Amino acid sequence: MNPTGVTVHSESERGMLDDRLSGKVAVISGAGSRGPGIGIGRACAVRLARSGAHVVLVDNVGANLEGTVQMCASLGVNASVVVADVADDSTCRSLAADVLEQHGRVDILVNNVGVTGPAGSVVDIDLDAWRTCLRVNIDSVLLLSRYLIPAMAGSGAIVNMASVAGLRGGHPSVAYSASKGALLSLTQAMAAMHGPDGIRVNAVAPGLVHTPMMDAQGLDAHVRRLRAEAAPLRTEGTGWDVAEEVRYLAGPESRWTTGIVLPVDAGLTSAIDPGRAPTVTAKGN
Ligand SMILES: NC(=O)c1ccc[n+]([C@@H]2O[C@H](COP(=O)([O-])OP(=O)(O)OC[C@H]3O[C@@H](n4cnc5c(N)ncnc54)[C@H](O)[C@@H]3O)[C@@H](O)[C@H]2O)c1
Repeated sequence: MNPTGVTVHSESERGMLDDRLSGKVAVISGAGSRGPGIGIGRACAVRLARSGAHVVLVDNVGANLEGTVQMCASLGVNASVVVADVADDSTCRSLAADVLEQHGRVDILVNNVGVTGPAGSVVDIDLDAWRTCLRVNIDSVLLLSRYLIPAMAGSGAIVNMASVAGLRGGHPSVAYSASKGALLSLTQAMAAMHGPDGIRVNAVAPGLVHTPMMDAQGLDAHVRRLRAEAAPLRTEGTGWDVAEEVRYLAGPESRWTTGIVLPVDAGLTSAIDPGRAPTVTAKGN
């Protein structure tokens, strides 16, 4: 239990789980967390490291990576650190060249970077802020993939971090919804184009996960509880829940799976909110 009174599914941050990714090199964008908690990128990096992958941690804020590096070190894993803006073309180009020079291969790419973007509808959203949101959330995926895919030919796994906001309406930022929706189509288009080269491309769509990004938006215990109770499982999700699905899609267990979007949302997108639906009493025939 946590301060909200809601059960949290978490896992130990220590210890190796298996060696099924041993010898693999994984690049994770947005592998930092804004604060001491567990962001999704941080959890993904640590989870892949716990299966033996060498992880290349990328973030545009170096301080955000410190906790991730410490957690990898506690596993006895030597992580590489790259401070870079993955929405920038030339930065991604040189990042890819450096990674390949240093490690000679890339097997896994987790395109995790994403920003919430400005609140607003199409009527009132600021156009520059809209463009920035799409640039960070979509261009970053295109750019890192563009420069790393050639090195993956033959075998590789890409996992894109979408959101339930790309599957349904209801998010306060139309830019966020549009960017995550585009990411779903991009995932399928990439899967079709790169499958013949042995590269799998999948997406996960997290629901209302508790991360430092959400804390930064002023989430208090009451709101955390409401978020947790919005989905059928009535439990609060963490970065670890998402990382477990990313590990599956990045690993050999999913070798025959590409082009899918895997919701990780405690059932949020499977349920109609009964509180809003008219009640019908079944009378039988
Ligand atoms: N938290 C949720 O409830 C939730 C739900 C659905 C989807 N997601 C998605 O999961 C991903 C991670 O979310 P989080 O809550 O862990 O976020 P976070 O803000 O805690 O972590 C993201 C990291 O990305 C870094 N970053 C941002 N822009 C960057 C750039 N241009 N280049 C390099 N690094 C950059 C940040 O510095 C930060 O360390 C995002 O794509 C987000 O949209 C989150």
